[in-house]
Amino acid sequence: MKYIELSEIDSTNAYISERLSSGEITEPTTVFTHSQNKGKGMGQNIWVSDNDKNALFSIALFTEIKTEEIFKVSLATSMAIYEFLKLKGITTKIKWPNDIYYDGKKLGGILIENKLDGNVVKSSVIGVGLNLNQEKFPKWLPNPISLKNITGQDYDAKEFITGISEMVEKKLNEIKDVPFVDLRLDYLLNLYCFGKIMMWKIQGIKDEISGSIVDVKPSGKIVVQAVSGQLCECDIKEIKLIDDF
Ligand code: BTN
Repeated sequence: MKYIELSEIDSTNAYISERLSSGEITEPTTVFTHSQNKGKGMGQNIWVSDNDKNALFSIALFTEIKTEEIFKVSLATSMAIYEFLKLKGITTKIKWPNDIYYDGKKLGGILIENKLDGNVVKSSVIGVGLNLNQEKFPKWLPNPISLKNITGQDYDAKEFITGISEMVEKKLNEIKDVPFVDLRLDYLLNLYCFGKIMMWKIQGIKDEISGSIVDVKPSGKIVVQAVSGQLCECDIKEIKLIDDF
């Protein structure tokens, strides 16, 4: 893994994407920064972080994955972060599809941008924002938390960035040829709210339903079973967890 350190940048994801397109980045590379002024989050969201407080990085990987199993990139990333934090004594949950949660609060987020060629993922930009030492967050953020909030300790961002980058690369290589059915249970068991009855708003269904997560598909779709027995297979745009606690 090659590392590029930037004092300030708009977005580490954008930095890598541009250099993948221009052919400047052709091998596994992690770009990290001390200050990100236009951090991208999922959908239309932005990612905010105080300077020099948190881990802000993106990993470029060239692991070829069949597009029908595209969720392996996300699974490898969230499981690697989960395992890295576990080694540090912090037990987190993965909030499908891309959040790292601790005690019902958001400790980190992942933004994956894949480049496809036909039915193969050729490269992935895996952006990670992990709250380490920031103690106060803007009021408008719904439920942020940092490692410092949890343990009172300070953390070395570089150690997290390198450790997680190596683990993500290793994990994706390990699982790329493993059938998805053999990976799903481990993932589901680490999932926030797995098996718990929660309230959901699902596109195309008028009323909110109560139900629980029962499965995840290789495409990344989540399967929620309503208490009525009905199974709903949804992507991220089609489902919203209403009752977060
Ligand atoms: C989310 O939870 O919405 C995903 C957040 C991902 C944020 C990280 S910070 C480093 C990398 N660069 C970006 O612009 N975004 C990701």
